[in-house]
Amino acid sequence: MTPVDEPAQLLFPHAQLRARIRELGAELTAELGDTPEPPLLVGVLKGSSFFFADLIRTLAMPIAVDFMSISSYSAAGTQSGVVRIVKDLEGDITGRDVVIVEDIVDTGLTLNYLRRTLGARHPRSLRAVTLLDKAVRRIVPVPLEMSGFDTPDVFVVGYGLDFQGLYRNVPDILAVKDLARLANDPKLLVSSLFGSSGTPG
Ligand code: PRP
Repeated sequence: MTPVDEPAQLLFPHAQLRARIRELGAELTAELGDTPEPPLLVGVLKGSSFFFADLIRTLAMPIAVDFMSISSYSAAGTQSGVVRIVKDLEGDITGRDVVIVEDIVDTGLTLNYLRRTLGARHPRSLRAVTLLDKAVRRIVPVPLEMSGFDTPDVFVVGYGLDFQGLYRNVPDILAVKDLARLANDPKLLVSSLFGSSGTPG
């Protein structure tokens, strides 16, 4: 088990993530296993790349993959998120069965934008699967066909999820209990999670 320092605690251990991902993979295989063309799995960079890589290897069917990168920020003083495409899909999705793969749905702004954008390109079907669903934070109601875990309103890191670019490669998902302390010292968890190898030599 990953050693966890006081400001964070283990929320979803790696084994629990992997077990749930196998179930999601079986569900997707059952739903999409007999589509005319291999479905297109779309990973949303960067956070979902870890979940994406594990999920697609549980699918017992041929698939195609592509990636998008989205930039989002909230205008100061408002809750209206502004989202734009940094990297688009490489191919046409007209007539394809498309699955958006997210690591987390929080406010819903990103997924809502992706659904509207990809839906306008006339796919045969469009689904979204997320590992974590933080429904309590939702601003925009957005359809979500499949999710791994309902997640409480805590800041999470690990398994793709970052704080200021750090901690994506932690195998477990951790809940940050003291976000103010981490904001003050973003490397706070490094030594407990990575030991001396995380300390600059
Ligand atoms: C995260 C996550 C989703 C989005 C969800 O991405 O991967 O794309 O936030 O939040 P929302 O529901 O409030 O829109 P982030 O912008 O942190 O980028 P990253 O994946 O590169 O870390």
